[in-house]
This record gives sequence, structure tokens and C-alpha cells, in this order.
Amino acid sequence: MSKNLNEKIPILVVDDEENLRHMLHVLLSRQGYLVELASDGEEALRMALAGDYNFILSDIKMPVMDGAEFLSKAVAAGIQSTFIMMSAYGTMDTAIECMKQGAYDYISKPFKNDEILLVLKKAAERERLKAENRQLKEELKREFSFSDIVSRNPRMHEIFTLIRKVADFKTTVLIQGESGTGKELIARALHRHSKRKNAAFVAVNCGAIPHALLESELFGHVRGAFTDASSDKAGLFEQANGGTLFLDEIGEMPLLLQVKLLRVLQDEEIRPVGASVVKKIDVRVVSATARELEQEVAANRFREDLYFRLNVLGINLPPLRERSEDIPLLADHFLAKYGERFGKGGVRLSQETLRTLVAHQWPGNVRELENCIERGLLLCDGDLLDVGSLPENLRGKSNGRAPVAGFMPDSLSIKKAEEMLERELIGKALEKTGGNRTHAARLLEISHRSLLYKLKEYEME
Ligand SMILES: Nc1ncnc2c1ncn2[C@@H]1O[C@H](COP(=O)(O)OP(=O)(O)OP(=O)(O)O)[C@@H](O)[C@H]1O
Ligand SMILES: [Mg+2]
Repeated sequence: MSKNLNEKIPILVVDDEENLRHMLHVLLSRQGYLVELASDGEEALRMALAGDYNFILSDIKMPVMDGAEFLSKAVAAGIQSTFIMMSAYGTMDTAIECMKQGAYDYISKPFKNDEILLVLKKAAERERLKAENRQLKEELKREFSFSDIVSRNPRMHEIFTLIRKVADFKTTVLIQGESGTGKELIARALHRHSKRKNAAFVAVNCGAIPHALLESELFGHVRGAFTDASSDKAGLFEQANGGTLFLDEIGEMPLLLQVKLLRVLQDEEIRPVGASVVKKIDVRVVSATARELEQEVAANRFREDLYFRLNVLGINLPPLRERSEDIPLLADHFLAKYGERFGKGGVRLSQETLRTLVAHQWPGNVRELENCIERGLLLCDGDLLDVGSLPENLRGKSNGRAPVAGFMPDSLSIKKAEEMLERELIGKALEKTGGNRTHAARLLEISHRSLLYKLKEYEME
């Protein structure tokens, strides 16, 4: 919707009073707007669907279809114009309701010419900021994501760099990290950035296959090798030929098979169960474990020689609690992902939800966060994901009703407590008014100026 400077800005004026329409037409045209007029909500809706107005200035009380209904239908139809409602005596509550529905602002009738121009100017400024914000977000997304992996954490970025560097080499890679930290995602990224990307990526969970079957699963078998082997069967190594084999939960591999795996890695050939000849293979092996493999080695549960062989290149994924700066970014990422899947786009996290998420320790790491957002999105009403939609075990922690205790269990400072309370209330007021500071200040019963001052002081801008 950004327009060239000397291009006129399209605005739709909706009012049933002819005098007012005429007055606004003259006033706004003189200011360089391209003004079109409608006399009720229904006509306005038709015009808004067909046209592309930056602003819609709409009366509330009108025959046929009133302003509130027009607004909600327009928003539902995906019309992106900035709405400013004109409220006459007695429609103030509706005006506020309209702001919750997505109107940017309202102006009380009767108004002076300057007032309406000022509101439009402010709205234009917000539009500019919104566009800038969208662009920044896009840039951030590009900067902070690597092949579906989202992170702004320096250690994670070192890992991205490492992946780019080594993707093309056949070196074995061992990925270690707690459950849900993204080990499989990293393995797939290694594959996708390598020359092998057009061949198969085969994943096998060594912990999920019964030990007795694992050998033939990996290396295949020939007909008659055992009772159920009625025909030759290729193993996963063969399926991954030319590509990547991902051995997940490698720590679960039985010791006997560890010996065989080591030999395969050294010789680059496999011997299917029951076969007398070996087959050459070309497979990049990436393995992963949530167990401390070094401890497993120390306890003689994992062969040291295999450990060294697998760990030619080690990647240690930090747990989410050590990169909490990623929490808001990941939350956004999953909101977008599941928003699209569930047809619930545009849902935002409330300030309190965000604080709660950042304060949580995430024992289940990114997977736990992903589940939490998916669930919250399903449960939430409207376009704000409130703490009420978070799982019970998270909610207790940063409770909005006890901000002081929640944030500073060991501080008795009244000054700090006041600050926390103020932050809390300002956050809530801004949430309620969709970020409109003038209205937020009114709700907070402080002056606009002092709200601006506090926002700056608390770096909440
Ligand atoms: N940095 C990230 N950006 C986006 N999504 C992520 C990130 N890390 C993990 N995920 C998502 O979190 C979920 C868990 O990731 P993944 O399966 O790779 O973890 P894992 O370490 O293999 O877990 P486990 O040890 O339980 O097998 C997946 O849905 C994955 O897409
Ligand atoms: Mg996994």
C-alpha cells in the first residue's frame, strides 16, 4: 500500500449525513487525499472490496449496515485498510469495541478539521512503521534461519557455519544434545547442504528396533539367512547409498553390533546377514544421541573406538534454557507454522505469555515449546494467545497477578516492585488498546507524556 510521494492517498469516507460527507470531501481533497464517498456500511463494504484504500473513515451509526458491522465484515474479508471510526454522542462504547475489532482509532463528533487531519497523520505514521516492521521481520527471518532452523544464538550460528563448511565431506558427524534440541533437524540440514542432497536421507532410530533385528535392518539379509527371510532384502545402508544415513539414539546400539558398524565405517562395505560376499557402499553417516556418550564409554557400554570413529566431527546442541533469546523467535516461527496449518493466522502472544515462555526452563527443549504453541493456538480465542492457553505447569510461574513475587523472589525493594507493577500494567494497557498509546494512557489514568516517559525509561518501546 505504500504510495509515491506525489501520488494521492486513497481514502474512503463513510457517513449517512450528506453535509458531513461533503465537508470531509472538501477538506481531505485539499490535503491531497483521493476521496471517495459511501453513505452506509453496505455500500462501503462493496467499495472496500473492490478498491484499495489506505484509510477508511467511517461513521458508526448508519442505516442499512452500521459502522461496527461494516468493520467486522471488512476485517473478516481481509481488507487491510486502516480504519478510523467517527463516534457521535452515545456510540462511545461501540467505538472502543471497534478498536478491539481492529480499528486503529476513533474520533468523537463533532470534531475540528485539525483533529481529523492529525489522526490521519498519526495513522499514516503507523502505517509506515508497520511496513518497516514487516520488512525488518523478513530480514531477521532470513538472517536468523538456516534451512528451517531458527536461532539468533551465537553458538547455534557457529554450528550453522560448521555445517556449511563440512556438508560436502564424507566425515562422520556425531550430534549430541538433550531431547528436543533439534538433532534431527541438524542432520537433515547437513544432508540438504551437501552434494548428496538428491540421494536419500534415511533415518533409523536404533533404540526403537529390537536388537535381534537391528543388524538385518541396517545391513540387509539374503534369502534363507534366518527363518523369516523368504527373500533377499536390502538394508538401510544400501537404501541410503549415495546419500546420508542418520543413526538416531546411537547410544542404544548393542555392543556386538557396534563392532560390525565400526568395520563398515572403516571399510565402506557391508555384508548382509547370511551373505558370503560384501557390497561396496558410499554413505555419509550422521549419528545422534541424547545420552552422554563419553560416560557410556567410561561405563563400558559403548566402544571407545567406535565413539572416536563417529565423533570425527562433534556438534553439541545447547539446551533451549541456555539460549533463551531464541524463545520469542521460535515461538513466532511456530505461530506462523501452525497458524497456517490451522487457518489461524495473525495470532500474537500476549506480553504475559511471552514473559512466561521466556522464564520457563524447557526440559523438553524446542519440541516442548513447539507443542506448547501448537496447543495454545488451538485453545486461544481471538488473535491473542493468553497465558490461559498455556499448559498448567507453565502458568504458575510468571503470574501476572503477582508480578513482584514472580520476578524478584529475593528482593524487598519497593522501588523495584513499583517498576515491575508499572511495567505489568503498561503492558496490559497497550495490549488492550492494540498498542495505541493515547488510549492506553487514558486507561492507566496518566498523561500521554508520562506514559511515553515510562516506556522509554523501561525500554518498552
Ligand atoms: N532451531 C529450531 N528451529 C525450528 N524448529 C526447531 C528447532 N529446533 C528444533 N525444532 C523443532 O523441534 C522439534 C524437535 O526437533 P528434533 O526432532 O530435531 O529434536 P531431537 O533433538 O532430534 O529430539 P529427540 O532427542 O527427542 O529425538 C522438531 O519438530 C523440530 O522441527
Ligand atoms: Mg530426534
